[in-house]
Amino acid sequence: MKIKSAEFVMSNSDVAKCPKSRLPEYAFIGRSNVGKSSLINMLTNRKSLAKTSGKPGKTQLINHFLINKNWHLVDLPGYGYARVSKSSKKVFQKFITQYFSQREQLVTAFVLVDIRHNPQPIDLDFMQWLGENQIPFSIIFTKADKLKPKAIESHIEDYKTILLESWEDMPNYYITSSSKSIGKESVLNYIDQLNNNMESGSK
Ligand code: GTP
Ligand code: MG
Repeated sequence: MKIKSAEFVMSNSDVAKCPKSRLPEYAFIGRSNVGKSSLINMLTNRKSLAKTSGKPGKTQLINHFLINKNWHLVDLPGYGYARVSKSSKKVFQKFITQYFSQREQLVTAFVLVDIRHNPQPIDLDFMQWLGENQIPFSIIFTKADKLKPKAIESHIEDYKTILLESWEDMPNYYITSSSKSIGKESVLNYIDQLNNNMESGSK
């Protein structure tokens, strides 16, 4: 899929105030600093459509972007940072869970995980929560430029082993690097395919 246009629509902290249009929507979620905003810029060929930062906690709101005038891409705040209550790491920021449970336009979520780390409970818990709430998701491994191919392979094997303990199949996954522009076509083609399926389904 070619990106012909990418525009910022709005930011807010209340799912009820998100755009009312029924356009298909794709949300990017994951820990703070995993590279959600950078990935959005890489996918849309824009340097600073979504705001990025070396410090965790940069994105604090639900940010809608209109792509090719026919679908929405959503940049979300990270989980696992300041606003997560200390007493229970399993409590994700309230408006993130509200967004996922209430946003009917959402076609699928992309859960971003840093390829350099071993599987982390907070990410596995979030995937579990999506599953329990019947929200489809794919995994996007980020920062692949930081590891050698062999290490990438072995980290993915670790994920497969742990995910297959609770899932029948390994979820769809993509290996990406925003700084080296890796994985862009695969992610965009997947979104394109889902958009096309929806169009043919609604005819
Ligand atoms: P929050 O909005 O704080 O939740 O973070 P985020 O997930 O949106 O992360 P962001 O895109 O702001 O990136 C965080 C840091 O990681 C920045 O310093 C980026 O430059 C860096 N980064 C993001 N993607 C990549 C990548 O693919 N490779 C490398 N090497 N660094 C990356
Ligand atoms: Mg961000």
